[in-house]
Amino acid sequence: MDKVVALAKRRGFVFPGSSIYGGLANSWDYGPIGVELKNNVKKIWWHHYVHLRDDMVGLDAAILMHPKIWEASGHVAAFGDPLMDCRSCKMRWRADKLLEEKIGVEKVAGKSFSDLSRLIKEEKIKCPNCGKNDFTKIRNFNLMFKTFQGVTEDSESLIYLRPETAQGIFVNFKNIMDVYRKKLPFGIAQIGKAFRNEITPGNFIFRTREFEQMEIEYFFNPEKSDWKKLYEELKKESWAFIGKLGIKKDNLRLRDHEKDELSHYSKGTTDIEYKFPFGWGELCAAVAYRTDYDLNQHEKFSGVDLKVQDESGEKYTPHVMEPSFGADRLTLTVLIDAYSEEEVKGQKRVFMKFLPRVAPVKVAVFPLLANKENLVKKAKDLYKTLKQEINGLVVFDDRGNIGKRYFAQDEIGTPFCITVDFQSLEDEAVTVRDRDTTKQDRIKIKDLTSYLQEKLS
Ligand code: GAP
Repeated sequence: MDKVVALAKRRGFVFPGSSIYGGLANSWDYGPIGVELKNNVKKIWWHHYVHLRDDMVGLDAAILMHPKIWEASGHVAAFGDPLMDCRSCKMRWRADKLLEEKIGVEKVAGKSFSDLSRLIKEEKIKCPNCGKNDFTKIRNFNLMFKTFQGVTEDSESLIYLRPETAQGIFVNFKNIMDVYRKKLPFGIAQIGKAFRNEITPGNFIFRTREFEQMEIEYFFNPEKSDWKKLYEELKKESWAFIGKLGIKKDNLRLRDHEKDELSHYSKGTTDIEYKFPFGWGELCAAVAYRTDYDLNQHEKFSGVDLKVQDESGEKYTPHVMEPSFGADRLTLTVLIDAYSEEEVKGQKRVFMKFLPRVAPVKVAVFPLLANKENLVKKAKDLYKTLKQEINGLVVFDDRGNIGKRYFAQDEIGTPFCITVDFQSLEDEAVTVRDRDTTKQDRIKIKDLTSYLQEKLS
């Protein structure tokens, strides 16, 4: 992990946030190469779910929404952790987690704060740090960031930064039905920022307080569709999407949530987990069955009818399946998974083995020497042509010697480096070096675009 974080900083994938002010804990900024990588992850997702399917449409809802939405969704009441402090050593703990370790999850699930307080005393739970049993009252720590809309800062103007993009989809369900008259089943896809005041952020961009989600709410008639079949289909779709990022299958697994882990709205959830350097962890929710919970709640709180009619004219509330991905966590995973080292002639080589479709830079063009005008001109002309013809970022580099340029491109995972040399001036051909094999092919300039396009696809 340390090597990946160091490389990410060194090569401009990800920088620590607000660094010239000493930094803001657990905030990160994507640099010129990182933003290309993350954009590619998002583009592949959008193409996979929205462009390739007839039963999906896109959406980009606002981050700031009516505060009642978060009451309806259950986030005001249930999206938090029961925290207490040890009076002796001042460490902060989650009351439910300490109890679960001692008496098991079943006896803790669904308990109110006063029940948890009583159990902490009855079970003589000790502070894992200092061993004392002297805790403060349990307080609800809601993970939603709060702010105010307008000039007054009172409860009337309190609003939240969305903790999931999903609710923007639910509250637009009626708009999309009214305008597009979509036939169920169909899905609405959205990519956007979400915010959670996480108590334990960390592991680089794995868990942050500001992150980007890519979510789908797939609406269906529970009387007409077999939910188990749909659940399996969407699970497979998520697996297929992850496959398109080139992450090694051996580092991935599917895991069904236990009953006590399920969110307040879910009847079933399967995660895709990745073998991170710090252990197996959630990469994404391949699918969660949210039932009709959200639409029912929004109908109740807004007073607006969110039912649809089936062919016979009967009204019903659609049920929902939700595949949910984190763009930052996927970007981290792609970085970790692509990181490769090898020895070449006694020298260590670090290279990022990104699939070409994921790679931030597709092609780099070099003149063999930077001080030979005719070489530089030919290389620049070729660079300008490729910039127009290749789908994705093409860069030019004439700094340092050729070995250093290869080294730099390997570290950002550029699949192909092209060198214009003296012979190119005679034979109208260039060398194309493959990042993974380091083998070089001599290709005629007139054939170069089609050669690269084929390899990059
Ligand atoms: N709408 C359902 C939902 O939000 P979730 O499991 O809480 O479900 C879905 O989040 C995905 O969003 C996670 O699998 C992860 O990839 C990403 N995610 C969640 N919290 C995150 C955080 N604090 N930092 C980075 N990514 C996060």
